[in-house]
Amino acid sequence: MNTDQILRTFTDFYVERGHHLITGGTLLPPPSDPVLFTTSGMHPLTPYLEGRPHPRGRRLVNVQRCLRTTDLDEVGDSTHLTVFEMLGSWSLGDYGHPQSLRWGYELLRDGFGIPHGQLYVTVFGGDEQVGPDSESLETWRELGVPVERTREDNWWSNGPVGPCGPDSEIFLWAGDTPPRGTPTTDPRWVEVWNHVSMRYRRHEDGSLTPLPQPSIDTGMGLERLVTVLQGHNSVYDTDLFEPWTRLLRPLWDLDEPSLRLLSDHLRSGIVVIGEGVRPSPTGRGYVLRRLVRRTLTTLWQHDPTRTLSDLPPDLVEHTLDRFRMPGGTDHVREVLLAEESRFTGLLDRGRRLLSRPRYQGKLTDQDYDYLHDTHGLPRDLVMTLQGQDG
Ligand code: SER
Repeated sequence: MNTDQILRTFTDFYVERGHHLITGGTLLPPPSDPVLFTTSGMHPLTPYLEGRPHPRGRRLVNVQRCLRTTDLDEVGDSTHLTVFEMLGSWSLGDYGHPQSLRWGYELLRDGFGIPHGQLYVTVFGGDEQVGPDSESLETWRELGVPVERTREDNWWSNGPVGPCGPDSEIFLWAGDTPPRGTPTTDPRWVEVWNHVSMRYRRHEDGSLTPLPQPSIDTGMGLERLVTVLQGHNSVYDTDLFEPWTRLLRPLWDLDEPSLRLLSDHLRSGIVVIGEGVRPSPTGRGYVLRRLVRRTLTTLWQHDPTRTLSDLPPDLVEHTLDRFRMPGGTDHVREVLLAEESRFTGLLDRGRRLLSRPRYQGKLTDQDYDYLHDTHGLPRDLVMTLQGQDG
């Protein structure tokens, strides 16, 4: 199955079971929201998980684009991406956890063709405040799927306060041998899907009270699912990244870690620009700026004459299509090239300044402040020029 087929199989399955397909929301939460970018499928639905009636009803399904900067340093390994899509289903005070788990099992086995023996699940084993999730345990036992119990790993919350509850995570075997061990003992069990029973609200003092209306929130990372279903070990080997690998490798003659980093950061940068964000010194614009500048530093490591003006327009178009974003490729390229030119100018100025005797050796906080306030050179850039940061 290619990515589009996988996506459609998921949404069709839930639509056939009475769920309303809500449009995959933007990466940008409303101004009242303290976070910069949407980080999970459930995030925009938080008020409804807390009890507000949703205009589309009690059963929802969607594909949500998300951005996580916490993983920025892990980008380049085989699973973490900065921008990714999350498949989600919700029961807002409608059916309960057992039904959600049963449908999850049915979709994985019949919809995606995953052999029963390649599934393992974890459930909440209980702690000082909440007893074990025996409802889920019972459901999985009836389905004949092996279960492991954990504590912290099977409790989901969006933050220190707010809606939360026990969850059950579904793992698929991605090893070359027959399945072995359990999700906590063998990393070849790959977590793909989380079914959360959103039943409590956590308060400032750490106490829990039951939500007036318990709900179910499930989320599954599309790219990770695609990787496992297509039989790969790395997301960069899937059809999602095929154009990137095909076009970038010969263009810039890159080693594998650089190819991955460039593919992730450029793809993410294109989506963020598509959302209307522009590079800037703070907030969302700063995240975009870091993505583009890290791309450029990597690109220039081997050859400083490389430029984003060589970026194939097909890759921009492919990304905008993938994320169902209107808007032309020219515009995205203009933003990227303007940032490249700004960064080049800053680097030239920075190199000239840092070659002065007073900047040889370790810089003080005062030096950093002066370089920033008087010459517009941010600390991370100065550190890059001094070879302390990649
Ligand atoms: N809230 C859960 C998660 O983000 C399921 O959507 O993993």
